[in-house]
Amino acid sequence: MDSDLSLEFLRVVEEAAIACAHTMGKGDRHHSDHVAVEAMRRVMDTVPIDGTIVIGEGERDEAPMLYIGEKVGMAQSKGNGGFEQVDIAVDPLEGTNLCATGAANAIAVLAASNRGGLLHAPDLYMEKLVVGPSSKDHVNLDAPVQENLTAIAKCLDRQVEDLVVIVLERERHQKLIADIRATGARIRLIGDGDLSAGIAAAVVGSGVHAVMGTGGAPEGVITAAAMRCLNGEIFARLVVTKPEHEERCRTMGITDFKKVYRSRDLACGDSIIFAATGVTDGTLMRGVRFFGDGIRTSSVIMQNNPHRIRFIDSIHVAPSGDVKIHF
Ligand code: FBP
Repeated sequence: MDSDLSLEFLRVVEEAAIACAHTMGKGDRHHSDHVAVEAMRRVMDTVPIDGTIVIGEGERDEAPMLYIGEKVGMAQSKGNGGFEQVDIAVDPLEGTNLCATGAANAIAVLAASNRGGLLHAPDLYMEKLVVGPSSKDHVNLDAPVQENLTAIAKCLDRQVEDLVVIVLERERHQKLIADIRATGARIRLIGDGDLSAGIAAAVVGSGVHAVMGTGGAPEGVITAAAMRCLNGEIFARLVVTKPEHEERCRTMGITDFKKVYRSRDLACGDSIIFAATGVTDGTLMRGVRFFGDGIRTSSVIMQNNPHRIRFIDSIHVAPSGDVKIHF
């Protein structure tokens, strides 16, 4: 994929983040999501690609915009000739509740790949274990919690008690939380947003050492794209408990319901771009700040080819006279 596209996708996530940041704390998660989707969809068509949404807001009949299979990019208005074919997984607002309540770590995010490079995952739950580069070859999704945390602590040259594990605060995680507590490791319970938590787990110095538990499968695929760039790892398995789940998997071409996926299975593309902008303040990015004369955004753009991680601080200057820019 043309590496210049990374800056094009930066515009897409920045605009989505700015749009929904206006709604922060207003208590209406659907409205926050809606404005992020609209902004992302609008800017997406200015990106010079022949794009297809492979993970989006849902099936065509349930989502008016950014639905699975929707064609996006400049090829729509200018004709397909000459534009690169790109698959895109979007989450215009990851953490709708976080934005609606002004809580930390809401982000606007997308991952892109050469055609066929992202798993078409159904909107089911997924068991997940996310770790950073040093522990990725020493943990196993099916190992007991104690064993995985001991291995992570050893790889990070510290005690299990020094680890911080992020877990979504959900009823279904009661046993997991008890198991982690029994090891002595520390836990950060989050209301939402296991995607940004996963990214933090793969960045040394973030203070997060693992993410454990069950969350959305679409978020899992986007996390995998980030892991391909950060050298971290996600281990994941779809939660398929009903015939209806099996059917949904089959329509996406998935027949092995017990498969443990790693980042390369979920995001197998040779060329991956990941872009995220903070909506509310978070571990790796600040939220959108409005300062009268303009807007400041904080983003991360990652690519595996060329392998490059950029933290980008943008000031979107208002079209008015004597604007002062602060450091
Ligand atoms: P939204 O952005 O759709 O609000 O989802 C946020 C999220 O917390 C994800 O980060 C996570 O993977 C999933 O929802 C968990 O789902 P549930 O809230 O059903 O437990």
